[in-house]
Amino acid sequence: MNKSKPIRNGVITFLILIGISSSTFAREGMWLPQLLRDLHTIDDMKANGLKLSAEQIYSVNQSSLKDAIVSFGGFCTAEVISSNGLILTNHHCGYGKIQSHSSVENDYLTNGFWAMNGKEELTNPGLTATFIIRIDDVTGRVLGGTHKDSTEAANQKIIAENIKAIKEEQKNLDSLYGYTIRPFFYGNNYYMFTTETFKDVRLVGAPPSSIGKFGGDTDNWMWPRHTGDFSMFRIYAGKDNRPAEYSEDNVPFKPRHHLPVSLKGVDQGDFTMVFGFPGRTQEYLTSYAVDYTLNQANPRKISLREKRLQIMDSDMKADHAVWIKYAAKYARVSNYHKKWIGESRGLKRLNAIDVKKQRETDYQKWADNQAKRGNPGFENLLGKYEKAYSTYSPLVAAQDYLYESAFAIEIVRLAYRFKDIETYVNSATKEKPVDEKVFEQKKNTLLKQLASHYKDYNAPTDKKIASAMLEMYNKGIPKDFRPAIMDEIIAKGYDNYVENIFSKSVLRDEKTATEFVNKMTPKSIKKWKKDPANVLFHGLYDTYIEKVSSKLKDVNYEISLMNRTYLKGLMQMHKDKPFYPDANSTLRITHGKVDNYNPRDGVIYKHYTTLGGIIDKGNLGVYDYVVPNKLKELYETKDYGQYADEAGYLPVCFTASNHTTGGNSGSPVIDAEGNLIGLNFDRNWEGTMSDIMYDPEMCRNIAVDIRYVLFIVDKYAGAGYLVEELDLVK
Ligand code: ARG
Ligand code: GLU
Repeated sequence: MNKSKPIRNGVITFLILIGISSSTFAREGMWLPQLLRDLHTIDDMKANGLKLSAEQIYSVNQSSLKDAIVSFGGFCTAEVISSNGLILTNHHCGYGKIQSHSSVENDYLTNGFWAMNGKEELTNPGLTATFIIRIDDVTGRVLGGTHKDSTEAANQKIIAENIKAIKEEQKNLDSLYGYTIRPFFYGNNYYMFTTETFKDVRLVGAPPSSIGKFGGDTDNWMWPRHTGDFSMFRIYAGKDNRPAEYSEDNVPFKPRHHLPVSLKGVDQGDFTMVFGFPGRTQEYLTSYAVDYTLNQANPRKISLREKRLQIMDSDMKADHAVWIKYAAKYARVSNYHKKWIGESRGLKRLNAIDVKKQRETDYQKWADNQAKRGNPGFENLLGKYEKAYSTYSPLVAAQDYLYESAFAIEIVRLAYRFKDIETYVNSATKEKPVDEKVFEQKKNTLLKQLASHYKDYNAPTDKKIASAMLEMYNKGIPKDFRPAIMDEIIAKGYDNYVENIFSKSVLRDEKTATEFVNKMTPKSIKKWKKDPANVLFHGLYDTYIEKVSSKLKDVNYEISLMNRTYLKGLMQMHKDKPFYPDANSTLRITHGKVDNYNPRDGVIYKHYTTLGGIIDKGNLGVYDYVVPNKLKELYETKDYGQYADEAGYLPVCFTASNHTTGGNSGSPVIDAEGNLIGLNFDRNWEGTMSDIMYDPEMCRNIAVDIRYVLFIVDKYAGAGYLVEELDLVK
């Protein structure tokens, strides 16, 4: 049991908030692994307990930690944990693949799945695992030929050409690798990532959802947490150990490095680092942007999703078949709905707008001074932001209404799928008539999309959502971007208008839709043009394309150029402060420590949870808390084996102060010696504003303790042979 108080160092928080973090204490930051030494991040890490050298974390000459980290399918992270290519990621990352192997007879989502030997592992067409071979600075070449007096659009064109040329050159040198070049610091820097992508990644095991998704949406983004959010896969390679398309002859990949697994457990204050592929953060936004997010974008998106979730929820509760169809959709919509609520609260609590304004006032003083000293270009920026955001705001509002309200209507999204074939037929000329083969291909794609749409579709729910979303759309869409079709909708009344679509459109049911597409010829596209679902789709979408999208692109260029200048200025202004680039789905390292927190007055949350907590939640009778009997038995008999803590309990999850975001799911939490101690899968609700502003006192990542993972594999699933594959550190 831990009674220590959380760190309450107001001075540190203050320094960090005003942007001058004292580097020794900094927990904030998602650092590029090749720059740990240059930016002295490695010194911070060592001061906080790290026992490894920078070279042991990232090296292009010898095997290092980075050789055990993969981008899993491009949307999550996974780590190699055995010399036979075994990788570990989250259950929610493997979910789609686990689902794709599931059927009523073999329901792996409900019952879990465990291969008891290599032969039983399941193939996953389309799933990839990508290693980073090396990272190189290519800023000079990428920016070559651009000019500060040219328009941003012209410069971006040159940059795109340069990137293409560099990649082609690399491909000619070594075609076995992939090459990605990405902008950092809003385009002040460019780095190239040399990658190796494996395409034969097989499912090894997954716990039942009652363990892997325990707590569901009720506990999502929350602490205390008890989710066994993990699944295991294995990377296969050709006989030469290089990437190969799936083949029965492929063999388990021999990694350059795999993480040893520590059973030593975690204590308050222990050093931790998380290595992975964080998706997107915006730490350098100005007060104008934060104001916009907090006062416009988040409330708008939250209320649109709120309405949609309410409708789904009541239909799901009324009919179990609907519940099954909409469970995954509901989870997807609710994930960010809940995140934005937490983010807004956190930004308010931190007074983020005022903090940013203060930073800008300081910046302005510095910029004016620089101009006087012969370093101009930074001084007239802030006024421009205000103007740019007044143009930007209504444009993004229109975009939000398209994505979060028009496209929240499933039948509209389905109509959008026809756009490709429609455009193809419309663009045919005498010289270049419709090619039968291409047309058939497009029809087949469409048929597949229809099947996947109707598999999890309930028209009455969609109908209710359609009425509600159109009404909110009409109320919220900025006047200048209001589509003409709105007048017609209002004249008919929302319900009547929607009723007409759901009774007359060929998309009204699967049979009609499939027949229609099956019989479709280039000529019958005319009929599709008049289909009421398509009329609604075009009515909303075409106005967006006409009036919003290109203007939005322009103002985005303008703002991104301003951000680039602002950030360049900030970096000059604070020459001694190391800056980390916003997350952009590239490999990053973040360090912190195992840490509890103080969510609100009078409450301290411990840094760990135990199996006892699962049993307690199970007794509440809440749908998201269903405990499998086998797990209850293991709890009763206390059969925890080598996975119990010294104090005798079985650990489940823990929190640490690593700066993470979406995409870090599945990332390893690594101890001071380089051993795996946990698997990252979430953040705490009170800390979700860390994508915009990190607070060391409140922001925590949530990991499942590796001992719980192995306990489930060994004791619950009886797949102990997998544990034998690991290098255990005791
Ligand atoms: N909040 C976590 C992550 O973005 C987990 C999401 C999946 N779990 C869920 N209950 N929806 O994204
Ligand atoms: N669950 C998130 C993911 O899927 C990680 C949580 C976060 O946003 O930090 O990547």
